[in-house]
Amino acid sequence: MSESLILRPPAKINPVLEVLGKRPDGFHELALIFQTVGLYDELEIERVGSTLRMEMTGHAGSLAPDDTNLVAKAARSFLERALGREEGLRLRLRKGIPLAAGLGGGSSDAAATLLGLDRLFGTGLGVPGLSELAARLGSDVPFFLTGGTALGTGRGEIIQPLSAPPEQWLVLVKPEQGLSTPEVYRSGKAAFTDGARARVFANKSAGMDARGLAQVLYNGLEPAAVGLLPLIVTIKEALLGAGALGALVSGSGPTVFGVAKDRASALTIAGTLGGRGWDVWAVPTLAQGVDQP
Ligand code: C5P
Repeated sequence: MSESLILRPPAKINPVLEVLGKRPDGFHELALIFQTVGLYDELEIERVGSTLRMEMTGHAGSLAPDDTNLVAKAARSFLERALGREEGLRLRLRKGIPLAAGLGGGSSDAAATLLGLDRLFGTGLGVPGLSELAARLGSDVPFFLTGGTALGTGRGEIIQPLSAPPEQWLVLVKPEQGLSTPEVYRSGKAAFTDGARARVFANKSAGMDARGLAQVLYNGLEPAAVGLLPLIVTIKEALLGAGALGALVSGSGPTVFGVAKDRASALTIAGTLGGRGWDVWAVPTLAQGVDQP
């Protein structure tokens, strides 16, 4: 049996995010489209020692390698609920995906932890067996067990995979300041809609080209994110001015993604937006989730 694993959890964007209403449990009922993109963290899991240890490298910012980290929480949850015993583990996380960005980095790391431990311990739970554990860790975590393109409903944890649209090239732009997801929801500025846009996307996604994608972009959290960080409007305008076919806040922001005509255009747009103090990446959409090299 293999004693260590390296996984590459990817980021996501949401080309459609509809807020349907507020639920009695404090969460919001959503209909949203998830799409993995080629920006990654790296997670190494090693069976060693007798306790759980976490180490962080890369752009970890304020994220601590302690028990509040979603990777450590996912590992503890797996050992307690799936394996039923303590095990020694070293979890090394290298952050490439920015924090508090609307790109789902922490959720993807948590999903990778569950998938990695399932493989390392030969528990054979797979996506169906890990989904409940994943949903307890966060609303976006179940999506990252499969990745690619999917429709999410409920609080975002009920996942229906969609057939992969043709690969698209996007430009991600993240300003220095992050946004807290609960604060964005709490701001009272989310727009409520009926879920029709997400359903249309789900029906059309298989044949969608860049122009088609740019036309259906919608995010009901965008007014709330802009209310907290007006700079988002400047970033959207900069992307459109540099040649993006459409631009939208991802998730609860503040990252904005622009849809490019093709790879060359994405690289040109990314070059134009560099040097303004923002993080900029040209990335393709992915047909898969966590990479296990
Ligand atoms: O599920 P997760 O831990 O990612 O959610 C973080 C916070 O975002 C929640 O505590 C809640 O304030 C908000 N949220 C929400 N409705 C959702 C998902 C998240 O209100 N569907």
